[in-house]
Amino acid sequence: MRTILINCTKIIRFMRTIIEPFRIKSVEPLHFTTPQQRKTALEKAYYNTFLLHADDVLIDLLTDSGTSAMSSEQWAAIMRGDESYAGSSSFFKFEEAVRDITGMPYIIPTHQGRASEKILFSIVGGAGKVFLSNTFFDTTRANIEFSGAKAVDLVCEEGKHPLISAPFKGNIDLVALERAIEEHGVGNIPLVMLTITNNSGGGQPVSMENIRATRAICDRYGLPLYIDACRFAENSYFIKIREEGYRNIPVKEIAQEIFSYADGCTMSAKKDAFANIGGFLAMKDLPLALKCRNLLVITEGFPTYGGLAGRDLEAIAVGLHEILEEDYLAYRIRSIEYLTEKLAAADVPVMQPAGGHAVYLDAATFLPHIPLAQYPGQALVTALYLEGGIRSVEIGSLMFGKYDAAGELIPAALELVRLAIPRRVYTQSHIDYVAEVIIEVFKKKQELKGLKIIHETELLRHFTARLAPIE
Ligand SMILES: Cc1ncc(COP(=O)(O)O)c(C=O)c1O
Repeated sequence: MRTILINCTKIIRFMRTIIEPFRIKSVEPLHFTTPQQRKTALEKAYYNTFLLHADDVLIDLLTDSGTSAMSSEQWAAIMRGDESYAGSSSFFKFEEAVRDITGMPYIIPTHQGRASEKILFSIVGGAGKVFLSNTFFDTTRANIEFSGAKAVDLVCEEGKHPLISAPFKGNIDLVALERAIEEHGVGNIPLVMLTITNNSGGGQPVSMENIRATRAICDRYGLPLYIDACRFAENSYFIKIREEGYRNIPVKEIAQEIFSYADGCTMSAKKDAFANIGGFLAMKDLPLALKCRNLLVITEGFPTYGGLAGRDLEAIAVGLHEILEEDYLAYRIRSIEYLTEKLAAADVPVMQPAGGHAVYLDAATFLPHIPLAQYPGQALVTALYLEGGIRSVEIGSLMFGKYDAAGELIPAALELVRLAIPRRVYTQSHIDYVAEVIIEVFKKKQELKGLKIIHETELLRHFTARLAPIE
């Protein structure tokens, strides 16, 4: 792989190739299938890759969440897990690791990110309330809407154009933010939230300047600012390599600066903590923290384990340390960029610039002959599986579409297909294979047909929806 913008690490000062900064101690086999087996598996899964058996998938890029390879240090820490019901030493290691990075005094462990969201929005949400963000992730939006409140996305203009390159396409539109505060009324807005990086908007980062400016607006109106911190380390690294003035600042200090502007955060440790399960809610506000802890006790567990085993808390504590290693982050960001470049060189419409954890294909441009109401993103997802056993996910109208009063689809803002790269799992040859499959599908894109939904649920329908091809 070619070197990226910055040589912040020891080895790459001399070499152009960025290598995986780990060696492999334990392996698991991949499952190869024939085209006929994939066709049958897809039919049985109703053209929804969430419903496939993982054994029928060759390269699983459904998500980077909980799918990381843990390090030998994490496995060693797991053996040290203290499973005491109350006051576990593993909790205190976890708490120290979270506090060191976030500076938040009140830290509440949860079994994953959405559990933090559920607790937070059950308390601050409710009918008549409005929450503002660059872009809410699907579970965050669902938790807000489930409370009866409204979730409003205000991503900047560049963030709405997948093929236009800009350094911080995850930024919130500051003018739109002020306008929305005025329009909905300060009293109805419990908090503003920045998702870093912006997963639903292409894994694009938010700049420190934008975070600081959001803080200033929140201060003017007396509003709390929360961070959806799932990918805080990747976002911090982007700030280091793309934002003026941060090149020589350690990534950890950049992360600490980000959190210094926030009143609280929700976190899925399944992303930038290399854990297979876990999350937390952290905040500065004691009365709110006490309410959250009360809800934690009746939903997740005692405050010093909150839905996790002691061993999970240990794995997170180590993972939070490892994620900030700059050799790792240089490799991580470069490997996503590498796949993006390969696809762009073959004219595949791919989100520019590369995001932090995934490559996003612009399905609307890839398949212009499939109407949005026939879910071009999902059609592409199924084609990638049939062609090469690759599992990806649609982030478009299947995930975010709504219906108007006449039952017509109100499409999502973007029709994306996300190929999320699990951390430390696949090697460069796997990634080369992925590029080859996508390019093959691109060559026969005219043959692809749309899909219709034959069964769906009210919330988060993409997880369980059943679809059928339109002949
Ligand atoms: C930005 C963002 N927020 C929240 C979540 C929810 O986290 P979890 O899957 O741990 O519930 C995710 C998961 O993908 C995410 O990407």
